[in-house]
Amino acid sequence: MTTLRDRLRAEASIVGEAPPFDPSAAPDDPQELFRDWLGAALDAGITEPHAVTLSTVDADGRPDARVLVLKDVTDDGAFEVATGSESAKGTQLQSNPNAALTFYWTPLARSVRVRGLATPASAEESAADFRARNAAAKAIALAGRQSAPLTDTAERDRLVAENLAALSADPGLVSSEWTVWRIQPFALEFWQGAPTRNHLRLQYTRTPEGWRHGELWA
Ligand SMILES: Cc1cc2nc3c(=O)[nH]c(=O)nc-3n(C[C@H](O)[C@H](O)[C@H](O)COP(=O)(O)O)c2cc1C
Repeated sequence: MTTLRDRLRAEASIVGEAPPFDPSAAPDDPQELFRDWLGAALDAGITEPHAVTLSTVDADGRPDARVLVLKDVTDDGAFEVATGSESAKGTQLQSNPNAALTFYWTPLARSVRVRGLATPASAEESAADFRARNAAAKAIALAGRQSAPLTDTAERDRLVAENLAALSADPGLVSSEWTVWRIQPFALEFWQGAPTRNHLRLQYTRTPEGWRHGELWA
């Protein structure tokens, strides 16, 4: 009988081929390199290149993680994601701003890790992000309660229908709970797989003098 372990062992990992990259020519500013790598993922037509795992820490110090979409990278190098303030991740970020992001772009065999501190963007920016969402996503977010136990699906459906009607009457309607979070990195790592398994790892660390970077053992 084929076990799950057998099936997993038979699966290829780190598939594809990374584009050429010379770490000795890496820019001083990691934002430049991130934009370059994300641009390569976009150009390669990768499915959902903006999908990113956001890790947070709960009040008991236990890590939590889930997938979000990256909204933007600001001129000062912060990574923007957005969510409901009442959600698990929203309350976790309000009590502990430590956060991490993990991207993986296959078949480019590339991953980027970000560690940083999260701060909420302005109410205007959060509202603008909310307005840019599609109607269905807005209607659910307007109901609030993200991550609360769902005990009555009929009530949920009624609220969503009400919110859709309210949105068609007033397309500018905004959820006051929808929040854009800016994660300002203090460390990043650019990882690129190699067929030799001698993978490239380039780490950037923020210092009082600016960014420092160097390679790590794979
Ligand atoms: C590809 C993908 C993109 C997602 N994007 C978002 C997002 O931008 N914002 C969000 O709040 N949830 C998003 N979700 C849902 C989250 O993964 C998660 O289920 C939800 O935010 C609740 O997380 P929490 O209970 O840890 O707060 C996305 C899920 C997937 C799979």
